Amino acid sequence: MHTLVHSPSHPAATRGHALGSPRLYDFFAEFFFFRRRRATFQALAAAVGIQPGQCVLDVGCGTGYFARFIAAAVGNDGHVVGVDASMSMIEYARRKAARTTNCGFQVGAAEALQVPNDGFDVVVSSLVMHHLPEDLRLRALQEMRRVLHTGGHLLVVEAQTPQHGLGWRLLAHAHGYDRMARQVPHLEPLAAAAGFGEIRSGEAPPWLRYITAVNA
Ligand SMILES: C[S@@+](CC[C@H](N)C(=O)[O-])C[C@H]1O[C@@H](n2cnc3c(N)ncnc32)[C@H](O)[C@@H]1O
Repeated sequence: MHTLVHSPSHPAATRGHALGSPRLYDFFAEFFFFRRRRATFQALAAAVGIQPGQCVLDVGCGTGYFARFIAAAVGNDGHVVGVDASMSMIEYARRKAARTTNCGFQVGAAEALQVPNDGFDVVVSSLVMHHLPEDLRLRALQEMRRVLHTGGHLLVVEAQTPQHGLGWRLLAHAHGYDRMARQVPHLEPLAAAAGFGEIRSGEAPPWLRYITAVNA
């Protein structure tokens, strides 16, 4: 699996908005999810049907939180590769997963994955689409389809404005999260345009919505 992905030692060239400050990112993520981060990502892994033994690609993996979680779920017979355009995110993710033998991280761009065709059972991508300019979103989804086996599963997660609770809604507004959520209003037509089938939508309240789809 390590040979599936190139390992450049510089940030990926992209017009997407790569992030620095991995520690700050994880701090805010823990704060926002308020002890529900693990349960939320557990629900997302279940939604896409992660199974022991699978090979999974996490596109725009950031600090590697979801990738590490999935690595535990797929077990030693499976493998996870996290790709992110940011060198500092990848270095941090590698440090955090230093003792996880079935999980590797590589610098790369979602819209030009340095990964051969048909390498993965599942591709996940959480909170990345709003980091890409509109024309790159479809390219990124086409890339995710290219690297999936036929019949492989996709999970794309995006921000949503909390539907309930004045406190959550005020926090979303103060932070600018609701603006972020509006940047990618519909994931379904993008996945369909990229050639995916069996597209289903869901929510992981209060902060996230998602689609799952199949490389039919
Ligand atoms: C909001 S973070 C999400 C991180 C992680 N997936 C999560 O859910 O916590 C978005 C990530 O996408 C990365 N990113 C932005 N543009 C990218 C691109 N073109 N290709 C790959 N990653 C990209 C950023 O560097 C950042 O780590």
